[in-house]
Amino acid sequence: MTSPHEVRVVDHRTPEERGRSFLPGAGRGWLLPFYDVLTRAAAVRPLHRRVAEIAGIGPGQAVLDVGCGTGNLSFAVLAAEPTARVSGLDPDGAALRRAARKARRRRVSLDLGQGYADRLPAADASLDHVVSSLALHHVDEDGRRGFAREAFRVLRPGGRLTILDFGGAGHGAGDDHGTGGHGHGRGHALRHLTGPLRSRVVPAELVAPNLDDGIPLLLAEAGFEDAREVARLDHRFGPVTFVQATRP
Ligand SMILES: C[S@@+](CC[C@H](N)C(=O)[O-])C[C@H]1O[C@@H](n2cnc3c(N)ncnc32)[C@H](O)[C@@H]1O
Repeated sequence: MTSPHEVRVVDHRTPEERGRSFLPGAGRGWLLPFYDVLTRAAAVRPLHRRVAEIAGIGPGQAVLDVGCGTGNLSFAVLAAEPTARVSGLDPDGAALRRAARKARRRRVSLDLGQGYADRLPAADASLDHVVSSLALHHVDEDGRRGFAREAFRVLRPGGRLTILDFGGAGHGAGDDHGTGGHGHGRGHALRHLTGPLRSRVVPAELVAPNLDDGIPLLLAEAGFEDAREVARLDHRFGPVTFVQATRP
């Protein structure tokens, strides 16, 4: 663990993983400097706050944010529970350096690691929570299965996994659960007008494995208990699903 306000970035990659490709946050590496501005403008921060609220992290608990990018979900977790011991993992070194700068500016402790979702740098049963936002659709089929297996391994019995991503059952239905979506009228018209933009920001083929019960089924196959969608809403970049599961 770091001392208060110390921020470290550790490279957890094996020599083979150093040559491995990944899909960066904004789709292309050169867009990284705009990532935070764009996601702030697109109202992604309230989604992070919602993940932190749903995760229900307690004082002093150990949390790993998988696919943390520039750290925004980690910061939402720390804002909700300042005594949580939060680590972020991402293959993108440049995004991690941004997260580290932000953590230092905010004077919060954050451990940052460079690595992949299917090999988590944590001991068996060592974590209380694994969280992840908008990252799973960046991970291929084998990587997703590896992530579910690894999340199960690193969580203690009773530990929880909370995932936010595009997908779920809400595609096109406008069936928000009271968190800001629109069923018809203005919201429907807006979705229609922004459709081409939405599909450019989040290509349908990346979201396909998350549709319907894609994420809960992935987690159930890895042995999680009670994996289910706990909330969903229609974000301006597309329907998003919040999924939670417990390690028995
Ligand atoms: C859309 S960004 C989300 C970042 C952050 N979680 C947020 O909510 O702002 C997706 C992130 O997934 C990361 N990523 C891509 N492939 C990954 C993998 N195999 N394992 C872990 N993270 C990955 C990207 O580098 C990127 O930072």
